[in-house]
Amino acid sequence: MKNNDSEPPGRLQSVNALSLRTPSTLPTEDYTPVRPYRSVDDMVHDLKPEMPVQCLRPATIAATAKRFLKAFPGDVLYAVKTNPDPRVLGYLARAGVKHYDVASLAEVKLAAAIPDAKLYFMHPVKSREAIAASYDEYGVRDFSLDSHEELEKILDATSNASDLNLYVRLSIPSEGAVYSLAGKFGVALEQAASLLAATRKAASRLGVCFHVGSQCMNPEAFSAAIQMVADLLVQTDVRLDILDIGGGFPSIYPGMTPPPLTRYMKAIKKTLQSLPQLAECQVLCEPGRALVAEGGSVVVRVELRKGNMLYLNDGVYGSLFDAGSPGFVFPVKAIRPRGQLSAETAEFGFFGPTCDSIDAMKGPFVLPADIREGDWIEIGQLGAYGATMRTRFNGFYSDLTVEVADKPLLSMTGVH
Ligand SMILES: Cc1ncc(COP(=O)(O)O)c(C=O)c1O
Repeated sequence: MKNNDSEPPGRLQSVNALSLRTPSTLPTEDYTPVRPYRSVDDMVHDLKPEMPVQCLRPATIAATAKRFLKAFPGDVLYAVKTNPDPRVLGYLARAGVKHYDVASLAEVKLAAAIPDAKLYFMHPVKSREAIAASYDEYGVRDFSLDSHEELEKILDATSNASDLNLYVRLSIPSEGAVYSLAGKFGVALEQAASLLAATRKAASRLGVCFHVGSQCMNPEAFSAAIQMVADLLVQTDVRLDILDIGGGFPSIYPGMTPPPLTRYMKAIKKTLQSLPQLAECQVLCEPGRALVAEGGSVVVRVELRKGNMLYLNDGVYGSLFDAGSPGFVFPVKAIRPRGQLSAETAEFGFFGPTCDSIDAMKGPFVLPADIREGDWIEIGQLGAYGATMRTRFNGFYSDLTVEVADKPLLSMTGVH
């Protein structure tokens, strides 16, 4: 890979994107700050990258987070799993995010390094060691659970602490979502009464949480879920302190334009206002995708073309997991630094670099008809569940990350 020492024209002034402490337990090579580029095209011109390059758009992430924080009627927890890159955590923290949904002790350690962060350990199944360490060493007081066994475990691991905020995760139908998260976690509504009562006894503050499913295309799914919680409270006569409506807020993909964020917020506010059972509750949400999808992309290189299939240097074992069996179609843009691309377009599928035949992405991805070996492709909307999914399978792995200042390939801004 070419890397000039002299300052190329496309480069912006160097900024230090990292004001966070890098925890020693995590691989530090991922977090090397890099000098930003004016655009993805400039980066490709400069680096001619042989390996995939993760591109981050700090301004996009900051603007998206600010818009969300302003619109949501409660506290916004960023779901760290979506993109745990400390640079991303830094952009979000500077945009005003103060609350973090963490799913593992590694995420606890990472988010605990953010000044003034409040952490919520919202994985319903945790190890005793992770509970104890997060309570004793990192000051975590908020934990979710969906079984009596997990409640006992949390109490045991914290020596029956009296200052716990405990959230019963409910299983809510996830119609309207592209990814269901109801299959694995959550107590069924019909079986929730005894767990709610037991958790109420143990908790300083009792919460309920749910997840309507990721990339939820229907604002009414949130209203319906909130209504289910309200009905449950009437049936069980349990007093609730916190309602956490989870993540699931969508981003935009080719052929999948969701209703605007304002419609989700309106539906949520209207439902909350209509339910006196919830009037006193603190309200939380846990967005991931909606905050960071637009702010990240990956630049890949075409290594071979066979008909309308392109063999790329990244795939489903890298940052393109969602383009594999989940079938997400991402926005794409071809880049040929020296030479014209055809104005005519065609539909392509992708193969990743590993030997596994499930390393395939059917798309369709619309690109110039003459795309060929040696061209680069920017694949957008990968700030969420992109880089974080990378493995080292077959030896294909790249840590190179740059910041860019141009607009994302697709944006929810302007969706009406
Ligand atoms: C508990 C929990 N909260 C929040 C999220 C973030 O979801 P999304 O990216 O759909 O907003 C997830 C995603 O898996 C999750 O499991």
